[in-house]
Amino acid sequence: MANTPKIVFSPLKSPATGTFVVLVDENLHLGRLAKQALASSRDLVRRATSAQGFKGKKGKFLDLIAPAGLKADRLILLGLGKVKDLKAGDWLKLGGALAGRLSTAKNVSVLFELPEGQVSSESAAEFAFGMRLRAYRFDRYKTKKKEGDDNNNRAPATNISIGVADPTAVRKQWDIREAIAAGVNIARDLVNEPPNVLFPIEFARRTTNLKKLGVSVEVLDVKQMQKLGMGALLGVGQGSVHDARLVVMRWNGGKKGDKPIAIVGKGVCFDTGGISIKPAGGMEDMKGDMAGAACVVGLLHALAARKARANVVGVIGLVENMPDGAAQRPGDIVKSMSGQTIEIINTDAEGRLVLADALWYTKERFKPKFMIDLATLTGAIVISLGHEYGGLFSNDDKLAKHLIEAGSETGERLWRLPLGPEYDKQIDSKFADVKNTGGRSAGSITAAQFLQRFVDKTPWAHLDIAGVGMASSASDINTSWGAGWGVRLLDRLVRDRCES
Ligand code: BES
Ligand code: MN
Ligand code: ZN
Repeated sequence: MANTPKIVFSPLKSPATGTFVVLVDENLHLGRLAKQALASSRDLVRRATSAQGFKGKKGKFLDLIAPAGLKADRLILLGLGKVKDLKAGDWLKLGGALAGRLSTAKNVSVLFELPEGQVSSESAAEFAFGMRLRAYRFDRYKTKKKEGDDNNNRAPATNISIGVADPTAVRKQWDIREAIAAGVNIARDLVNEPPNVLFPIEFARRTTNLKKLGVSVEVLDVKQMQKLGMGALLGVGQGSVHDARLVVMRWNGGKKGDKPIAIVGKGVCFDTGGISIKPAGGMEDMKGDMAGAACVVGLLHALAARKARANVVGVIGLVENMPDGAAQRPGDIVKSMSGQTIEIINTDAEGRLVLADALWYTKERFKPKFMIDLATLTGAIVISLGHEYGGLFSNDDKLAKHLIEAGSETGERLWRLPLGPEYDKQIDSKFADVKNTGGRSAGSITAAQFLQRFVDKTPWAHLDIAGVGMASSASDINTSWGAGWGVRLLDRLVRDRCES
């Protein structure tokens, strides 16, 4: 990733030059040092505040260029609103909002002090985390960098110094978040990459970067998958010139012999729909149909980089779903690794076929404590939940509860939908054990109900991320289409449920 801003923490002091950022509350009160630093420009700040109608509301700015009486080139007052109501997630968003505001600024000093009371080192680290996440750009394929035509395409700030009361304590918190931010940005990169570049073999090759961090990476090719009997996954890939792969990544930072948890990702590098081909409009978005797999890779990076004390297995099924003379047809019956036969009704319901074998393989080989899959699985979940919540399905109430909690803590929120045997009749097949679509009604639920047939009794949750994996609009902490969604969520789950 280009232009990663350098973020350092220093003791509280006012800067000489560059962009100077101070925090103000809803009464426009400044911290002690900020008040001192701005003493010579009090009148300027007062006039600008009233001219702008700036009230110190949360996430609002007063932005002064070449402020008279100060050595700084630019002074930014960042509104905090009611300070005592601020939560960790607010600091994350405030940092993100500031990074969005800075655009081309080169040297930035933030005076991270409150008008009253102490700010925790965790809040400062969250603030920096938000800045780092917001500064991500994917401009690898732009050969002409136009200055200033679109704020989101400008180079982000490069040197950021955050003045805090206890730099050592903040740095400790920051190291963890820097590892997670790198994981999020790796996931974003993978989702943003075009499908002519990122086909299954190339995706698998990139996962081998994780070895540098101590993650073991195994790549299974088509022959090996045939031997294992993965007819469901292989059927999806058979119409593509790009061979399928299955990647197994293992981070063993926990106790030796402790059962791992497993995260499984849908990695459809491009989904044309196959013979049941999709309409042309918007089909380019289907390069992101591997967002689940991207999240798994980003998560393993984050866990390894911060040396998580947990045993975690990541498994991703990588295929390309193409129409072709060799492609699978509606009406075909394939045999999955589990032994269950599947009648293909619609070749566009391919994600569940990939996951059927990936889930079964993971459960059989690793006997995980629990298993979570992430998949851009159904358009129906976008209709149900839009782009705000991921869909959650689970056979385990405790796991579901823990996921929902991790979701509200990180802002990567989940909403639980039902499973139940009542839905089975929609996917029972005339000719095989199960069919791969269940008709128009409850499309996300019947997809999850299909997956459930391939997890047995393993505690399991399925996250349908079709609405959140690709960002439809910018947020405070993200302007990238590939959202990197789920890395922070699952890192938090591991931290809260496996490491403590
Ligand atoms: N990859 C799509 C789901 C999708 C849709 C992801 C929109 C992201 C945005 C999936 O493979 C698919 O095509 N699902 C079909 C299932 C149907 C044929 C039963 C769908 O949702 O239409
Ligand atoms: Mn599809
Ligand atoms: Zn798909």
